Amino acid sequence: MSLPDLDPNSSLHMRKAAMRDVEAMLQLIAHWARRGAMLPKSRDVLYSQIRDFYLLETMDNGIAGIVGLHVLWSDLAEVRSLAIHPNFQGKGLGKQLVYGIEPEARELGILRLFAWTLEPVFFVRCGYSEISLEELPPKVYKEYHKNAMIKRL
Ligand SMILES: CC(C)(COP(=O)(O)OP(=O)(O)OC[C@H]1O[C@@H](n2cnc3c(N)ncnc32)[C@H](O)[C@@H]1OP(=O)(O)O)[C@@H](O)C(=O)NCCC(=O)NCCS
Repeated sequence: MSLPDLDPNSSLHMRKAAMRDVEAMLQLIAHWARRGAMLPKSRDVLYSQIRDFYLLETMDNGIAGIVGLHVLWSDLAEVRSLAIHPNFQGKGLGKQLVYGIEPEARELGILRLFAWTLEPVFFVRCGYSEISLEELPPKVYKEYHKNAMIKRL
C-alpha cells in the first residue's frame, strides 16, 4: 500500500487523533517501519491507544505527521510513533509535534519525557539528551531498543 501523495504546500493543523484516522496512521507508520526507521504498530494497539496520539492534518484531511504521548510512570511519559510524511520532512514539523505534546504532559504532571530512537540528533534538536538505561524505571529499560533520550519539562 503506497502513501497518498499529499500537497507539500498545504497548511496544517495539529489535533488529537480519532478512530477515523487509524487506517491513514497505519499506512504512514508502516511506510517508515518497512524502511527500518521505526517500529511497526498494529491496528489493535492504535485503537486501544488512540487517545495518546496527535496528528498534523492537511487541508485535504491528509496526515502529514503523527506523534504519541504514552504515560509510563508517575512522572514519566514516552514520545512514540513519531512519523512525518516524506513530502513534509525537513520543514520543522517533527520538532513541532515533539514540542506540541509538552502542554498535555505538563498538565498531567509529567516531569520527564522519554524516547527510544534511531535519530538521537533530531531529539537533541528538540531539547533531549542521551541517558543511560539505569536512569529509567526497570519496567521501561526492560523494553530496551536503541538510544534512550530524555527531556525534563
Ligand atoms: C525523524 C523525523 C521525525 C524528523 O522530522 P522532520 O520534520 O523531518 O524534522 P524537523 O524538520 O522537525 O527537524 C528538526 C531539527 O532536527 C534536525 N534533524 C531532522 N532529522 C534529522 C536527522 N535524521 N538527523 C539529524 N538531524 C535531524 C533538523 O536539521 C532540525 O534541526 P534545527 O532545529 O537545528 O533546524 C522524520 O524525518 C521522520 O518521520 N523520519 C522517519 C521516521 C522516523 O525516523 N521516526 C523517528 C523514530 S524515533
